[in-house]
Amino acid sequence: MITSGRIAVDGKVVTELGAKVIPGKAKLTYDGQPVQMVREKIYILLNKPVGYTSTRSDPHAKHTVLELLKGIDAYLYPVGRLDLDTSGLLLLTNDGDFTKLLTHPSHQVNKTYVAVVEGRITAANLNRLERGVKMEDGVTAPAKARLLTYSPSEGASTVEITIHEGRKRQVRRMFESMGHEVYKLSRTKLGFLDLTGLSEGKYRNLAPKEVAELKKLASPPKAAAPRPGRTPARRKTG
Ligand code: URA
Repeated sequence: MITSGRIAVDGKVVTELGAKVIPGKAKLTYDGQPVQMVREKIYILLNKPVGYTSTRSDPHAKHTVLELLKGIDAYLYPVGRLDLDTSGLLLLTNDGDFTKLLTHPSHQVNKTYVAVVEGRITAANLNRLERGVKMEDGVTAPAKARLLTYSPSEGASTVEITIHEGRKRQVRRMFESMGHEVYKLSRTKLGFLDLTGLSEGKYRNLAPKEVAELKKLASPPKAAAPRPGRTPARRKTG
């Protein structure tokens, strides 16, 4: 196409193979029609350390998670957020539809955290976490919670909790509303994904199969189609 003179850059036909353009800046046409650049979709699974802000850029942030990704030529942004003082599993992508799907409030994927909290967590409080905790922005949806360890010497409990909502500082606030300060918080799982093989600050690309599986998990359930040959039963009257 190039050597036959059908490609133009900024209105000038270019027949030289290997001519360079700046993506997004140069106007490319093919037979006079604009050429759209198809950007490769990238999905990164990062083990975020404490002290990194989950934003693309923030003038007040000392460090952002983007600094941890080396040599990736794509405009990535985090899928949801982890607090500055939370570590663990964070996805980043340049796929806006994927981000929208995964962070949509009504169909979020399960997120598992390990929290080290002040004091001894009782069975009653685990129960409260599971049933829903009253907070200033409403009662939380049912969660799953289990005590992993209790250290009498440190006076701290380690609890695994799985939620599917994504409210601001939700896990910290859930514990705090029961009087347990959170000393340490880490996200260990998102749906079927975990951090196997990734030490803090390290990342990997998601496999296409993992991306497809996440999309499926986050998609709202389809309404059941009416069964063929069946008409709704009429209510008897009179
Ligand atoms: N809940 C929190 O409190 N903090 C996070 O970073 C994520 C969930």
